Amino acid sequence: MPRKLFVTTALPYANGAFHIGHIMEYIQADIWVRFQRMQVDEDGLPREVHFVGADDAHGAPIMLKAEAEGVTPEHLIKRISDERPKYLKGFHIEFDNWHSTHSPENTALSQDVFRRLKTAGLIYSKPVEQFYDPVKGMYLADRYLKGECPNCGAKDQYGDACENCSSVYAATALKNPYSTLSGAKPVLKTSDHFFFKLSDPECKAFVRQWLEKPDRLQSQVVNKAKEWLDGEGDKALADWDISRDPPYFGIRVPDIAEEKYLYVWLDAPIGYLASLKNYCAKKGLDFEKTLNECEQIHFIGKDIIYFHTLFWPAMLKFAGAPYKEPDHVYVHGFIGVSGEKMSKSRGTGIDPLRYLELGMNPEWLRYYIAAKLNGAVEDIDFNPDDFVARVNSDLIGKYINIASRAAGFLSKRFGGLLASEIDSESGVKEKLKQLTDDLAASKNEIGELYEAREFGKALRKVMAFADEANLFVDETKPWELAKHHDKERELHEVCTACINLFRVLTIYLKPVLPKLARDVETFLNVPPLSWRDADSLLLNHKIGNYKHLMTRVEEKQLDALFGIESVPQVNAPQRHAEKQQHAAKELSVSDGMISIDDFNKLDLRVAKIVKAEHVEGADKLLKLTLDLGDSTRTVFAGIKSAYDPAKLEGQLAVVVANLAPRKMKFGVSEGMVLAASGEGPGIFLISPGSGAQPGMRIK
Ligand code: MSP
Ligand code: ZN
Repeated sequence: MPRKLFVTTALPYANGAFHIGHIMEYIQADIWVRFQRMQVDEDGLPREVHFVGADDAHGAPIMLKAEAEGVTPEHLIKRISDERPKYLKGFHIEFDNWHSTHSPENTALSQDVFRRLKTAGLIYSKPVEQFYDPVKGMYLADRYLKGECPNCGAKDQYGDACENCSSVYAATALKNPYSTLSGAKPVLKTSDHFFFKLSDPECKAFVRQWLEKPDRLQSQVVNKAKEWLDGEGDKALADWDISRDPPYFGIRVPDIAEEKYLYVWLDAPIGYLASLKNYCAKKGLDFEKTLNECEQIHFIGKDIIYFHTLFWPAMLKFAGAPYKEPDHVYVHGFIGVSGEKMSKSRGTGIDPLRYLELGMNPEWLRYYIAAKLNGAVEDIDFNPDDFVARVNSDLIGKYINIASRAAGFLSKRFGGLLASEIDSESGVKEKLKQLTDDLAASKNEIGELYEAREFGKALRKVMAFADEANLFVDETKPWELAKHHDKERELHEVCTACINLFRVLTIYLKPVLPKLARDVETFLNVPPLSWRDADSLLLNHKIGNYKHLMTRVEEKQLDALFGIESVPQVNAPQRHAEKQQHAAKELSVSDGMISIDDFNKLDLRVAKIVKAEHVEGADKLLKLTLDLGDSTRTVFAGIKSAYDPAKLEGQLAVVVANLAPRKMKFGVSEGMVLAASGEGPGIFLISPGSGAQPGMRIK
């Protein structure tokens, strides 16, 4: 039987565009998958690979983000998912299917898993006391709570840990807590939650045995997971809270009248199966059979090991057939840029879309990332200088060079026909034989490196062969041979040898450079190359005309990528050209964002309202006289509906002090006071904290 594989990457949250971290994960998995697809197993059958992804569409952050944008969550996740293909196609990332956790398949599968775990006695419910925002009408996860640290008293600390003294505590221990959503003082409220009994001895025993299976996981991952599994005291493995109260964007807990939702981390990994199921339906495959026959392999980043090595295998195991535990979870580190860590919200200096829009070759990035990757959980760094050097010296200087050195002679002197044998007396034969033998003999070794995700090592090996092939050209000097008519045959064989070396190198690079490999197949006039083609030589075969296969990367393209300097762009829309001029030192300013320089253009000042009066004939305006410390201003503000002028006098406000004066029907307004308003009624003046003095700059 050929190997059958079901491969996934972590499902990205559907509240933002892909950043370079996502793209790196997909490139890693895509290379591995493409390598598998090039394999033919012993029985002559190709490996079957199903490579799927999906958006992780549920949870409170997505619900709240949609609300803030004034759209439905469905609308938000649709907008994000519509953008996905641009990136995936752009970087030649070839998922067989891309789906969503907000789908009928996922609802059915998640509720099914829940029911089965309940039947297995692994789900129970118990009351949980939690902070509740009475204004927002919502229970508050730790990230939506702030207050004073119970240990050191630092203000504005989150509900789980203090950034000042590093102590860790329960949200309920915060002093003077407030909701970051509404500012309201939260109240304690109790509701029933469902729990998954991860601490059950049978469950723990299963997870331990699952973790310990040789070659299933990287050793660093096993160690980490065991630390959690074997934790004691307050680090002891706790049962897992798997339900949430409304409002929530998610899947309903089945079979209960009360409105409760499955926690997003329960339905998210089931989304892997939902995407497979959706794909099987499209392809006419039997979902359960496919699931059953395939090795199940997940590529993920190091931050989500916990979910994938404890809950996920346990959930699947105890849900029972057709569910089955994952065979492998392959974990990668994080990508940073020039030694800087990436921020979750702002990404890094590299915006993958900008990379594509600048017309930069996606295979440069694929190659560069692959060259940095190994099978361990290690962070990698994107360094622009290193990128330029690596791509130009390896791909252009070493690999492509071999073909371009031979192709011209072949087409001009031999009509593009490769020699039918290589047996001249000159020693070409021996050298070539040794090289091709070595190269073919490395087929398994390089294959094993790809299999083990040691892409960096595999590529170093390939480039060492490229060096040897270039040395072969240097020594046999085709350009000298071309000057002598009696060396015609030798010239033909040397060039044929070069093309054959180039062909095998292409096979070994094909998982990383799929588009380039396709162009080489066209040039060589051969069907798609598979791994075992490395065993044979291409002789007495007419190849096509050589066309330039890849251009060098230029430093100024990286400058443009990082927004340092503008260059003519291949197909970048105008907005990027404009953005570059402003973004001098910012690493990248993506859509809808402003730079700190933009912000600094605003002169915001603390102002004291010394006088507030009604304006005759105006039904919305109040006339304010403001003290800005060194000057007095008159400002007309549209706040009459919300404020009694007499009560405003003496209060502090925030004014935009450098707004061009505006002539209004009732006089000149010399600035603007800031106020908040929403869809409902009410206008709320922004006021500085107590102690602020008129004239102070706000920044
Ligand atoms: N939605 C969850 C995963 C659910 S899987 C059932 C999630 N989403 S995420 O968008 O935050 O991250 C998706 C993947 O990107 C994760 O594997 C994560 O580790 C990876 N990366 C996020 N930032 C990264 C880097 N800077 N570098 C490499 N990968 C990183 O977590
Ligand atoms: Zn503290």
